[in-house]
Amino acid sequence: MAPSTAVSSDPGSASVSGIRTAIVPAAGLGTRFLPTTKAVPKELLPVVDTPGIEFVAAEAAEAGARRLVIVTSPGKDAVAQYFQPQPELEQTLERRGKTALLEKVRRAPGLLEVETAVQKEALGLGHAVGCAEGNLRPDDDVVAVLLPDDLVLPTGVLGRMASARAEHGGTVLCAFDIPKEQISAYGVFDVADTDDPDVKKVNGMVEKPAVADAPSTFAAAGRYLLDRAVFDAIKRITPGAGGELQLTDAIALLISEGHPVHVVVHRGGRHDLGNPGGFLRAAVDFALAHPEYGPDLREWLRGRVEE
Ligand code: UTP
Repeated sequence: MAPSTAVSSDPGSASVSGIRTAIVPAAGLGTRFLPTTKAVPKELLPVVDTPGIEFVAAEAAEAGARRLVIVTSPGKDAVAQYFQPQPELEQTLERRGKTALLEKVRRAPGLLEVETAVQKEALGLGHAVGCAEGNLRPDDDVVAVLLPDDLVLPTGVLGRMASARAEHGGTVLCAFDIPKEQISAYGVFDVADTDDPDVKKVNGMVEKPAVADAPSTFAAAGRYLLDRAVFDAIKRITPGAGGELQLTDAIALLISEGHPVHVVVHRGGRHDLGNPGGFLRAAVDFALAHPEYGPDLREWLRGRVEE
């Protein structure tokens, strides 16, 4: 896919965070959103009027990324198309004086330079990230990976993860401190303290442990700052849970070889857009905060809930 033209900064230049390139894996099957995902990629489902993937692209740009590699699968071309300029539509809106809409239409293509990598078969998140290796530049010694169905709010955690990497080196992940009784739903980190209460050294990770077996209350979130060494580790792992190549297995392999891995604990909110229940919450949350739709929706919801 051709780079968008509206990006002014040099995509090869380093940002303050050291992050130049971000990867967004978007080649999954989206089975929890069937039947819609037969035809519409879940990454394009609108939270009010904006697809989830635009929020994570904006977050990556805010963290200093200049390039976004979207991992897509055959049949999901619309995801990358969304970041292409639409000159005809823009001219029509301009002629009609629809400046607010014009600004919205131009927003995504103007965020950063977008290119694609193809994952032919959904063989897991680790495999999807590995598919983007060919898109990296020689000086990309670190890449940010953002899962488009995980909204981490407020934004800014990637910047804190970059600071943690500057101090400790290696790979940095993002965690939420989850109430212990809910921990079984998550991938949970086994950690040791550092001088900073919100930065922990990772010794390992357990998928969906029973409450009694959970090594901590720190659960994995969909933000990763991966040292380039992870791409080599992805090639050395074998299929894990669900027969898929898991990114966490590649990270676990690096930990076992002494590669430093830390987590930054994000003390904020989160929306899981990957399932209809979480997606609806996000839509209602964003709509309630929307100046145009919020007041009416709030009133309607009050009445509807009381019924
Ligand atoms: P998910 O597990 O949430 O997405 O992966 P999914 O597999 O599409 O959803 P379900 O479980 O079938 O409903 C997190 C992210 O990783 C991408 C997905 O597109 C999603 O953005 N992914 C996952 C890939 O790109 N390739 C894969 O093989 C698996």
